[in-house]
Amino acid sequence: MTESELTPATFSVDDKTLEFPRVKATEGNDGVAINTLLKDTGLVTLDTGFVNTASCESKITYIDGGEGILRYRGYPIEELANNSRFLEVAYLLIYGDLPDMETYAAVVRRIKRHRLLHEDFKAFFTAFPSNGHPMAILQAGISGLATYYQHTLDPKDKYQIELATVLLMAKVPTMISYISRRAQGLPLMYPDSSLQYIEDFIRMTFGMPYANHDVDPILTDALNKLLILHADHEQNCSTSTVRMVGSSEANIYASVAAGVGALSGPLHGGANEAVLRMLTEIQESDMSVQDFVTKVKNKEDGVRLMGFGHRVYKSYDPRASIAKQSAHDVLEKLGKSNEQLDIAMELEEIALQDDYFIERNLYPNVDFYTGLIYKAMGFPEEMFTPLFALGRLPGWIAQYREMIEDPATKIGRPRQVYTGATERHWIPRSER
Ligand code: CMC
Repeated sequence: MTESELTPATFSVDDKTLEFPRVKATEGNDGVAINTLLKDTGLVTLDTGFVNTASCESKITYIDGGEGILRYRGYPIEELANNSRFLEVAYLLIYGDLPDMETYAAVVRRIKRHRLLHEDFKAFFTAFPSNGHPMAILQAGISGLATYYQHTLDPKDKYQIELATVLLMAKVPTMISYISRRAQGLPLMYPDSSLQYIEDFIRMTFGMPYANHDVDPILTDALNKLLILHADHEQNCSTSTVRMVGSSEANIYASVAAGVGALSGPLHGGANEAVLRMLTEIQESDMSVQDFVTKVKNKEDGVRLMGFGHRVYKSYDPRASIAKQSAHDVLEKLGKSNEQLDIAMELEEIALQDDYFIERNLYPNVDFYTGLIYKAMGFPEEMFTPLFALGRLPGWIAQYREMIEDPATKIGRPRQVYTGATERHWIPRSER
């Protein structure tokens, strides 16, 4: 460590000079711990959107936004996406290391045992309009798990958290398939313990109770890869939400459900659905791709190029590179028409050569190509973001558990800089 890396950061305000200790990162930006700033100066920091603020120390995921690097627990995303199974990556995120053969088999077995939803829970899916957005139903459903599994709610009890982890991993895919089926008026299917996690999820989503449903391995492999790509992304909006809610010692279901709410927004996970809507709009209009890009650059009607830009990546999102290749492979293998893929590629080509996007470091993000793959697999557009949620689930669980176990955790409670009215007094309505 160099001397400057150990030197405290100094901060001068009025006649005071304060020293704040540095917090050393193993990779990436070091931190400056400013915990005593308010006490010593009466000042708070203002950092809208947390652009400069680290909310915690974490050992789970590392991103280098300049170099386009993403690693889970040290493993490059490319190696995991090309070689691993989703549950293996989930284990890695939650427990810190890749499982050996025996551990992996035990994890798979345990999750299989818990795939069923309580029979009473089925009525829950009929309580919403069939055209209600799946993310709203998923958020309510995950929150509702707390009412069925009341013996797993104590965040301080290791046994309860362990069981809640398994229940979430096991039951959320069943729930997502039920939401999709119910929207189409199709029968809800029971899990089949002879099938693997992703294979069974696809069967429950697309199969029929009266017929065998052989799942195409192309679909299983493609979904496996996409779930791995989404499995964690350090302190993004939904993960920070999970941590924030959990910091009040709210149970894991309430915290993960809050994360689903955050993910549903079009600037976050909802972007995958918005990309498809954008591609369809371009396809169905007489607008050229160049016309659309011009509209974006002119900020007409606040329109953005969905699936482009990222708070952290200022180069190509490594997940987007993998998803792009996967989109080509899946569409080719399934022999699907790829007019929208062509539009997406033209959009990317024009944007990457355009000064507006170059100056702002705007590159495709993970959501740019994933919707095309989900669509080719047969998922309706409104199911794209729930699939993102399924992928992100182990990340949320891992981050919640890390937060609970961290002795430095305090309830999340930001300050504000108040800019409203100073004290004034009530006067009767007739005199206002
Ligand atoms: N299209 C056009 N302009 C954009 C875009 C875009 N997609 N993204 C950013 N900009 C412009 C923005 O208008 C601003 O321009 P100016 O300096 O002239 O005001 C500049 O780039 C900086 O943008 P910002 O909004 O300050 O950047 P941010 O870091 O706050 O936002 C973002 C990041 C992802 C919300 C944003 O890039 C965006 O809205 N992208 C489209 C939605 C999207 O694809 N979201 C998925 C993100 S990746 C997966 C995930 O997190 O779920």
